[in-house]
Amino acid sequence: MGRKALPKLNPSVDYSRNFLTAEKLPRPWDPESLFGRAAPLEIEVGCGKGLFMRTASGVNPAHDFLGIEIAYKYSEYAGYRLGKEGRTNAVMVHGDGQKIFPEVFPDASAVAIHVYFPDPWWKKRHHRRRVMNETFSQQIERVLAAGGTLHFWTDVEEYFDMTVELLHAHTKLAGPIDVEERPAEHDLDYRTHFERRMRKNELDVFRSQFRKPQ
Ligand SMILES: C[S@@+](CC[C@H](N)C(=O)[O-])C[C@H]1O[C@@H](n2cnc3c(N)ncnc32)[C@H](O)[C@@H]1O
Repeated sequence: MGRKALPKLNPSVDYSRNFLTAEKLPRPWDPESLFGRAAPLEIEVGCGKGLFMRTASGVNPAHDFLGIEIAYKYSEYAGYRLGKEGRTNAVMVHGDGQKIFPEVFPDASAVAIHVYFPDPWWKKRHHRRRVMNETFSQQIERVLAAGGTLHFWTDVEEYFDMTVELLHAHTKLAGPIDVEERPAEHDLDYRTHFERRMRKNELDVFRSQFRKPQ
């Protein structure tokens, strides 16, 4: 399924606090320099247009949210939308989540990690390009705090099964814990734009959580 062009960014919106490139992330890791406070951190990898980042940072102002998106235009657009909403607890980063995790995040630095509808890479010979691979699943486990949660949703049943097997084989994350579908109360009441697209097309969505033991 293709993607529509993104709307133009209004130059009067200041999103300088909500968008940066991976090289500008603080090393050593210092979330207070990004958010101006110390708060439980949630990280999303592959944010697309950033609906989850926008909604979650609005409904959970006590948490900080860091989104990573490899496509520059989408990362900037998602950061712009956060700036437009005046969010102080959410930042978008342009970069590759698989590189940023080992380079930037210390052990046990996030209470939740979100991966929604990662690119499926359908062909078997391309499966190694999938973001949910052995190395990255171990990075997720390392970066999660004890009791923290991985949220993983996909529309591809085979990717879902592969991820469950991967996490069982290479991590101690416990799951899958089922997540029930909830009726949408308005047109953007979906976890992400891809969830919206799948639900509007009456396609299946496989939702799960995995918990890092205490
Ligand atoms: C199929 S889209 C889903 C977007 C969004 N999560 C949603 O559900 O609407 C997958 C997104 O992951 C991004 N992506 C792929 N590999 C990535 C990586 N290694 N790091 C960060 N983002 C990545 C892609 O650019 C794309 O925007």
